[in-house]
This record gives sequence, C-alpha cells and structure tokens, in this order.
Amino acid sequence: MTILVTGGAGYIGSHTCVELLNNGYKLVVLDKLINSKLESINRVKKITGKDFIFEHIDLLDKKALERIFSDHKIDAVVHFAGLKAVGESVIKPLDYYRNNVTGTIVLCEVMQQFDVKNLVVSSSATVYGTAKQMPISEDAPLGVTNPYGRTKLMVEEILRDIYTSDNNWSIALLRYFNPFGAHKSGQIGEDPNGMPNNLTTYITQVGIGRLNEVRIFGNDYPTKDGTGIRDYIHIIDLAKGHLKALNNVLNSNGIEAYNLGTGRGYSVLEVIKTFEKTAGISIPYKVVGRRPGDVAVSYADPSKAKRELGWEAEKNLEEMCRDSWNWQKDNLYGYLNKK
Ligand code: NAD
Ligand code: UD1
Repeated sequence: MTILVTGGAGYIGSHTCVELLNNGYKLVVLDKLINSKLESINRVKKITGKDFIFEHIDLLDKKALERIFSDHKIDAVVHFAGLKAVGESVIKPLDYYRNNVTGTIVLCEVMQQFDVKNLVVSSSATVYGTAKQMPISEDAPLGVTNPYGRTKLMVEEILRDIYTSDNNWSIALLRYFNPFGAHKSGQIGEDPNGMPNNLTTYITQVGIGRLNEVRIFGNDYPTKDGTGIRDYIHIIDLAKGHLKALNNVLNSNGIEAYNLGTGRGYSVLEVIKTFEKTAGISIPYKVVGRRPGDVAVSYADPSKAKRELGWEAEKNLEEMCRDSWNWQKDNLYGYLNKK
C-alpha cells in the first residue's frame, strides 16, 4: 500500500511518516521545505531504517503532482502541507488562501483524475473558534476568528461538497488540539523557522537559552490559576491517530471529523512547572497582557475517535515535556544542529 504524504518534512508529518513506515506502508513524501528541512527526511529514514521517495515540490505545481500520481500507484493521501501561523495569516491572507485552500483543491483535482479517493487531512481545533462548552465535541458550532482558521474551515467544507458529489470518496478530517513532544530517539522534533508562536516551542527555546523568558499571556482568565488552559497531545499519539484514521479511510467511504486530543486541559503555569520538573531546569517567565483572540479554555471530547477509530491518547504531559526537551537540548538549532 503506497501513501502520498504532503508536507511530510514538517513537525507532524515527519512523526507520522515514522509511524506509517513502521506499520508497513510505502511512502512517497512531497514537501516544498518552506517551514522544514531536508534533514528531517534523512532522520525519518535513519530512525525507521526504511527508504522512500522524497519529492521537493510545491503542492500547487499540478504538473509535478500529476507526474507523481502517474509514476506511483498511490492508494491514499495524508495531507499536511500548509501554512499555520495565525498572526502571519492576518497580515498575508492571500498567501494562506492560496497555499492552504488552492493547494487542497489542486490535490483533490489530481486525486480525482487518478481515481484516488482516500484522504486524511490536517484540520485544527481552531475551527471551533470560541467554543462555549467544554469539552468540545465534533458537533459543536464551528466559527473562526482569523484567516488561517478560515482556510481550515473552508477546506473542511470543500471536502464535504466533494463527498456529496461523489460518495466514493473516503475522508477523515483530523482536528488537532495542541501537539507537543518529540520522537523518543531525540532525532526528530519541532523546529519552527524564526520566532516560535506556540507556548511549547517557546518554553523549550527558553530552556536552551535561545530566548530569555516566557511571556504568559494573561493570568486573569476564569481558570484555576488565571492562565489559559489547553489540551496538549503528544506528537506520537497524534501520529498514531493518523495511522488509525488512514486504516479506517481505506476500509470505508464517507467523510468524518475527529478530535485528536487527550480530553484533559492544563494551564500555562502547569505546563511551565511540569517542564521545569521534568527537565530539571528553571524556566523564567513574566505575566503580560492577554493575547488578542485567545480563548480561556479549550479541550477536546476525544470519544468519537475512540469509538470509531479505536484511538486514544496514551502519553501524559511529563512525557511530552521529557521528549521535547530531549530533542531540543541535543539539537540546539534544530535540524541545522549547530552546537
Ligand atoms: P509544519 O510547518 O511543520 O509542516 C507543514 C509542512 O508543509 C512544511 O514542511 C512545509 O514546508 C510544507 N508545505 C507548506 N506548504 C506547502 C506547499 N504548498 N507545497 C509543499 N509543501 C508545503 O506544520 P505542522 O505543525 O507539521 O502542521 C501540519 C499541518 O497540521 C498543517 O496543515 C497545520 O495547519 C495543521 N495543524 C498544526 C497544528 C500545530 O499546532 N502544529 C495544529 C493544528 C493543525
Ligand atoms: C494556537 C493557534 C491555533 C492552533 C493551535 C493548535 C494562535 C492564536 N492560535 O492556539 O490556531 O489551532 O495553536 O496548535 O496562535 N501562551 C503564552 N505565552 C506564549 C504562547 C502562548 O502564555 O508565548 C499561552 C496562550 O495564551 C494559550 C496557551 O499558552 O493559553 C497555548 O497557546 P498556543 O501554544 O499559542 O496555542 P493556542 O492558543 O491553543
């Protein structure tokens, strides 16, 4: 069985490639390497001891995509390729619509052309906007607050229309909560270009001294310690969720959304404290004002994925902190690996 992985050199893609290879899938991976490095592909090969084809192409390059589909008998696609920085999407909305929405349309056109209709897609908990009820289940109202989120929602809606037009499609929309952690080998992990946006990458970079302190965005939320609560999920659990979703997609037709989260929320302070304890280092922080657009609390009801995919998260926050620290301390400059 051969799977095309778009955006497979990135953070979630590279960890998912490891799980897919370890479970006997053959891969063709494409990536434009705009937010990732070729070295992550080399390391996936090293960790698994398995080889696969890597295509350095842009998803929007339809001719190149058609060549891939005619050179290989692709059975299914796991689609990660996309831009993901919320702040940047506000400044450059057209880049986000073109890359994330048009990219998915081009992919689906070529899939249709080659009669490949099995698709697992990266969506995001961002499609729930400011959810009123916790935990968030898949049937909660959808709504977005920024162009990045809107691209994810648009892609979900476009894919629903495609399925309505042709019931032979089989599509899983995976709504990730907050990925954290790294592969236990310490060989692959999150390596953002430029300033980190997420709390977890901020903490690890403060840990190695690349940044001075974590700024906590508000301690006046209606939560137990006043800081924001999120559902952090270990990247390996997330990668395994793709494996389960892919197996399901290959054996059924339909379109379904699944939350991939743990169902448990932690506050910013709890994450910092757990990281300090696990890594045995101190993480300086200061409280600043709220970040516009942030919600107080967000955590998943992951029961649908358990019921229908047989998947549930197994790793806890300590393991997320330990594994991401293990990756970051040995790769101070990520895949560039300058010491
Ligand atoms: P990432 O930036 O590490 O990986 C995305 C990869 O896609 C990168 O390697 C990038 O080079 C590639 N890419 C982007 N546009 C491309 C194009 N036009 N053609 C070819 N390659 C292209 O991000 P990630 O964290 O691994 O996220 C993967 C997916 O999951 C994205 O769609 C993202 O929106 C979604 N997601 C991520 C998070 C998160 O917190 N990391 C949360 C929810 C959803
Ligand atoms: C972010 C994205 C969202 C995406 C989600 C999952 C934004 C606005 N939203 O949301 O689209 O779906 O990740 O990956 O970027 N925090 C700090 N200091 C920091 C960074 C964050 O205190 O330097 C706090 C935030 O206020 C929040 C928590 O930490 O309470 C987590 O923030 P972050 O990692 O950015 O994730 P989300 O806000 O969930």
